[in-house]
Amino acid sequence: MIKTVDIVKGFKTPEARWARFGPYYAMFPLDFAFEVVEKYSKKGDFIIDPFAGRCSSIYAGGVLGRQSLGIEINPVGWLYGSVKLRPADKKFVIKRLEDIFSRRNYYKRASELMPVFYKMCYCDEVLKFLLAARKYLDWRNDNVDATLMSILLVYLHGKLGEGLSNQMRMTKAMGINYSVNWWGKHNMIKPPRINPLEFILKKIEWRYEKGTPNVQESHVIFGDSTIELEQIVQKAKRVGMKFSLLFTSPPYCSVTDYHADQWLRLWLLGGPQSPKSLQGQYKSRFVSKEDYYNLIDIVFGKCADIMDSKSTIYVRTDAREFTLNSTCEILLKYFPDHIVKIVPKPFKNRTQTEICGNKTKNIGEVDIILMKK
Ligand SMILES: C[S@@+](CC[C@H](N)C(=O)[O-])C[C@H]1O[C@@H](n2cnc3c(N)ncnc32)[C@H](O)[C@@H]1O
Repeated sequence: MIKTVDIVKGFKTPEARWARFGPYYAMFPLDFAFEVVEKYSKKGDFIIDPFAGRCSSIYAGGVLGRQSLGIEINPVGWLYGSVKLRPADKKFVIKRLEDIFSRRNYYKRASELMPVFYKMCYCDEVLKFLLAARKYLDWRNDNVDATLMSILLVYLHGKLGEGLSNQMRMTKAMGINYSVNWWGKHNMIKPPRINPLEFILKKIEWRYEKGTPNVQESHVIFGDSTIELEQIVQKAKRVGMKFSLLFTSPPYCSVTDYHADQWLRLWLLGGPQSPKSLQGQYKSRFVSKEDYYNLIDIVFGKCADIMDSKSTIYVRTDAREFTLNSTCEILLKYFPDHIVKIVPKPFKNRTQTEICGNKTKNIGEVDIILMKK
C-alpha cells in the first residue's frame, strides 16, 4: 500500500518520483494536496479540479485510489499533469529523443537567425535541438512525444547547471530585455555548453528509475473550464455520476494569467518568440473584475450540477478582498446547504503574487471549505 509520507517526503517510489513533475506557478504544496484528498474523500470517490495547474490534486486523487478529473487551459500545466498520470514507455521516449537529436543539424541556419536572447540562453547544440523538438514533437496527440516534450519543458530553464539554459529561474521565465541585460551585467553572456542528448538521457533515467506511477483511472482535459464543464455535466447526468470532492485553486484576480510567466515553455510548444505577443491573447481575463467574477461564477455554477449533495468543496484562494469576497459569495450561492469554514493561510514563503511583482497589500491565502451540514 502506498504511504502518503513516502510520496511527499522522498523519491523512493515511482509515485514520489513523478509527483513533483514539473515547475509551475502557484502550485499546491504536495503534502497539502495529499492531505486534502485523504481527509475529504475515500477510495472510489470522484474528484474534480476545474483549475488544475500542474495537477497535484488530480495526481494525489489518482494515486490514492480516487477517480479524478482535471481541466487546465495552459498547455504547460496540462502536459505536466497528463504525462505524470500516464508517462509513456521509457524505451520509446529515449528512441524519440535520439531521433529528434539526429535532426538538429537541419536547424543550423534557423538557429543562426534566432534573436540574441536565445543565443545567450542556449548553446548552439541545445538551440538546434530545441528547434527540432519544437517542429517535430506532436505533444498534443502522441503520448511518447508528450512525455518527451514535458521532460524538455521541465529542464528548459533553471539555475545554471540544473537545466538546459543560461542562469534563469525555474518556475518563471524572465523577459527578453531583462534577461539579456542581466546576463550582460553578471558577465554571463555565454550560455553553458551542454550536449542535450546526454543531459536529457540522464534526466529520463532518473525519472524512470523506480518505474511509473500506479494511478487510478484519472484524466486531465486541455481546455477552458467554462466550455469543457458543459460536456462533463451532460455526461455525468447520462451515466448518473456524482463527484464527492471539488478541490481547486482558481486564478487570483489581477495577479497572473499563467501564460506570461511560462512564455519560454510556451515558445517550445510552438508559441511566439517573444512574451509580448502573448499579451493580447490572454492578459485581460484576470485584470477585469467583471470577467474574473464571471469566470468563477460560471465554473463553480457548472460544478455545482455534478456534485453529490454530501460533497465537500475545498478552495484555496487569495485572501485579498475582491477575490475572497467574490469566491465566497459565488460558493454560497451554489452550495446554500453547506456549512462554510474559512481558514487563513498566511504566507511563509514568497508566492505567486509577490513573484509576479504585484504591489497591492499581500495578506496571504485562505482555504474556503464547504461541507454538508
Ligand atoms: C492557482 S493555479 C492552480 C494551481 C494548481 N492548484 C497546482 O497545484 O498547480 C490556477 C490555474 O487555473 C488555470 N485556468 C485559468 N483559467 C482557466 C479556465 N478558464 N479553464 C481551465 N483552467 C484555467 C490557470 O492556467 C492556472 O493553471
